[in-house]
Amino acid sequence: MVTASPGDNGAMIVLGLETSCDDTGVALYESERGLLAHRLASQVEVHRPYGGVVPELAARDHIRKLLPLVQAVMTAADVEGKQVDGIAFTKGPGLAGALLVGAAFGRSLAWAWEIPAVGVHHMEGHLLAPMLEEEPPGFPFVALLVSGGHTLLVEVKGVGRYRLLGESLDDAVGEAFDKTAKLLGLPYPGGPEIERVAKTGDPSRFTFPRPMTDRGGLMFSFSGLKTAVLVAAREVDLDEQGIADLACGFQEAAVDTLVIKCRRALRETGHSNLVVAGGVGASQRLRKRLQQESIATGFKVFFPRLEFCTDNGAMIAYAGARRLAVGEKEPLSFGVLPRWSLTDLTPING
Ligand code: KG4
Ligand code: ZN
Repeated sequence: MVTASPGDNGAMIVLGLETSCDDTGVALYESERGLLAHRLASQVEVHRPYGGVVPELAARDHIRKLLPLVQAVMTAADVEGKQVDGIAFTKGPGLAGALLVGAAFGRSLAWAWEIPAVGVHHMEGHLLAPMLEEEPPGFPFVALLVSGGHTLLVEVKGVGRYRLLGESLDDAVGEAFDKTAKLLGLPYPGGPEIERVAKTGDPSRFTFPRPMTDRGGLMFSFSGLKTAVLVAAREVDLDEQGIADLACGFQEAAVDTLVIKCRRALRETGHSNLVVAGGVGASQRLRKRLQQESIATGFKVFFPRLEFCTDNGAMIAYAGARRLAVGEKEPLSFGVLPRWSLTDLTPING
């Protein structure tokens, strides 16, 4: 019996590379069968002693990890270089040095294999990550993109058809989780740590503000919330229970703020699908609150699986496949865009 191998059916196979921050993510995606294999190397241990990401160390670690990860996904998927039809790398936004590693590697490999390369917007990757799931959302939808660098509410009418509804005026929500964790003496990255200790916290002990929810609009601000925790932390014993109660109060306030704004964005746009993506989308508390809200209010909420909420290569391979399919490609030279607005992307049909 002859078994079909990836790409036999005329489908396109795309190698995706994610190196925008502190995770090296590599994946192989096939346009007909979906994800073939993916691997991730986290740099958490590299940066933990410094309490945050050190850009130069991030870039150096991507250099070390990319090639072994590419070899690992190709072996796992039983795919050879000559079967790959295109390479997608994260072009921005992110840390310049880290992005340059993926761009240089991806563009060079595509040149050697004589296939096109495409530069992908990191947040478009996050936004399209739920498309890798069994029940993907249909367009249009509202997307809540919440990561260490971004807090965005976006109206999505198709791939590349994005309208910014709201964003943070200061800290991103993930950044607020990270900074609050740091001031409570918890290790980096802060989001999962806050979530862990908040489980034994008393949610009624501290009630922190829900910033910018008392007025209309879809903008966010999280730096005041972090300061409110700092002020409260000076007044109490920072023992295990004190830290748990502060973390719990902070998490409730941050999650509640996101839920209120999502509800408002859905009402204002009239859409009934909500997509949540980005690292903070891994928060069990946020997922639970939005699920409860969706039942109560009658909208549908879509999340990528947990491992595709945080940075990964699969979302870059998928977004790249959509763009390569309409003929988008980078020139032979390569560049990165450490600052790049989602609304500057080219719309694609289909
Ligand atoms: O998307 P991501 O992996 O990287 C960026 O593009 O920034 O997001 C990382 C952010 C960090 O701020 C991290 O603390 C936060 O996502 N995060 C969480 C949780 N897991 C990760 N925040 C809250 N709760 C979590 N469980
Ligand atoms: Zn990200």
